[in-house]
Amino acid sequence: MPDTSTCIEETFTVPHRLRVYFTRAVFSCENNLLAALIAKPEGANAAKVLMVCDANTVDCQSQFQAEVARYLNTQVGDVAFTYLALPGGEVVKNETHYLTQLYDAIESNQLCRHSYIIAVGGGALLDLVGYAAATAHRGIRLIRMPTTTLSQGDGGVGVKNSVNAYGKKNFIGSFAVPHAVINDYAFLDALPERQMRDGYIEALKVGLIRDRDFVEWIEAHADALVLRDPSAVERLIERSAQHHVNHIVQGGDPFEVGSSRPLDFGHWVAHKLEQMSAFHISHGEAVACGIALDTLYSAKSGTLPLADAERILKVIQQLGFSIYYPELAATDSQGRLIVMQGLYEFREHLGGQLTICLLKAIGLGYDAHEINAEWIQECIESLHRYSATSKQTVSR
Ligand SMILES: NC(=O)c1ccc[n+]([C@@H]2O[C@H](COP(=O)([O-])OP(=O)(O)OC[C@H]3O[C@@H](n4cnc5c(N)ncnc54)[C@H](O)[C@@H]3O)[C@@H](O)[C@H]2O)c1
Ligand SMILES: [Zn+2]
Repeated sequence: MPDTSTCIEETFTVPHRLRVYFTRAVFSCENNLLAALIAKPEGANAAKVLMVCDANTVDCQSQFQAEVARYLNTQVGDVAFTYLALPGGEVVKNETHYLTQLYDAIESNQLCRHSYIIAVGGGALLDLVGYAAATAHRGIRLIRMPTTTLSQGDGGVGVKNSVNAYGKKNFIGSFAVPHAVINDYAFLDALPERQMRDGYIEALKVGLIRDRDFVEWIEAHADALVLRDPSAVERLIERSAQHHVNHIVQGGDPFEVGSSRPLDFGHWVAHKLEQMSAFHISHGEAVACGIALDTLYSAKSGTLPLADAERILKVIQQLGFSIYYPELAATDSQGRLIVMQGLYEFREHLGGQLTICLLKAIGLGYDAHEINAEWIQECIESLHRYSATSKQTVSR
């Protein structure tokens, strides 16, 4: 039978705008930033705003809720405002009833595509709320207010959202450009030390693959960062956020259609470690260990000078991170490294050819398509020794 198929094919382009603001005290009545981003829809009595807040980010929820309501009433005017507090951390991405709770709030408050959802919290809460906002009514305007160093400089300024499923991180999710991102540094004042550090490692990560000057700046300011010097912290976040925005806007693959995920340097290990530790190892801690392993592997495979690898391990430790966790060496009943499953899960998540970012130099990443399991094993052993002595050198 002759082929009678026909096809209509047109190409179209949809412009997107990614806005990331930096401020302090966003809800103080002198600060007009947020108000300028909220408009009452034509013909409606009021703008609808649902705020979802990570319960750990503010000391007193009822006081905070009242402060936001006051701000919206005075700065925006007619606003129908609803407030919902949810737990922070990975639990909100793991347990499906939080997603249901959000859809319920969106439905019962009759939010529409002209409404606003403001998500205030760490990266986990932003991922969850972002997913609900992207999917309810096929998309409600989302204003993200990241409250951790990690989310202010990294995940919170991007276009991804997700929840976990089947024991796998970010199994369900979508790409959606937020209406705006507001980084309010005042939220960081209450951030515990451990979470404070987590953002530093994502900044180091982006420097390692893109920006040698930034790595050297972090190296020189490691002590100031550990002491939470505000000007150092703010500079780190801004430069890290700029790199992430540049990647999305200029990198040519904002919605990750290809097989490469260059900003995920160290993450194939990290995601698996987080999972293996039942999330007791935080994302940043796992990334630190993943970067350490992929750095050593880059040296082992001959692309990165060994001295550079050791310098990187030192910076990671100066920032207060461990470069080794016993989970790295855990094996299954057949003696295989469990962490290697992370490689397959990473590829499965993205599809296509295995593509792992490794280092050619400090500030220069490249895509590798093969990973040698024996070398990984050797690097894990080296990392163990290195972490014990902090003087261990790597054998080639
Ligand atoms: N969407 C993306 O592109 C992207 C990128 C990177 C990471 N992520 C995701 O982000 C999550 C990690 O985010 P995170 O590092 O921000 O941690 P987190 O959201 O897990 O928060 C860590 C802890 O800090 C608390 N917290 C948050 N802000 C606080 C504040 N200001 N004061 C006191 N406590 C506060 C939280 O309640 C939680 O207990 C992971 O789920 C990761 O997968 C997403
Ligand atoms: Zn990360």
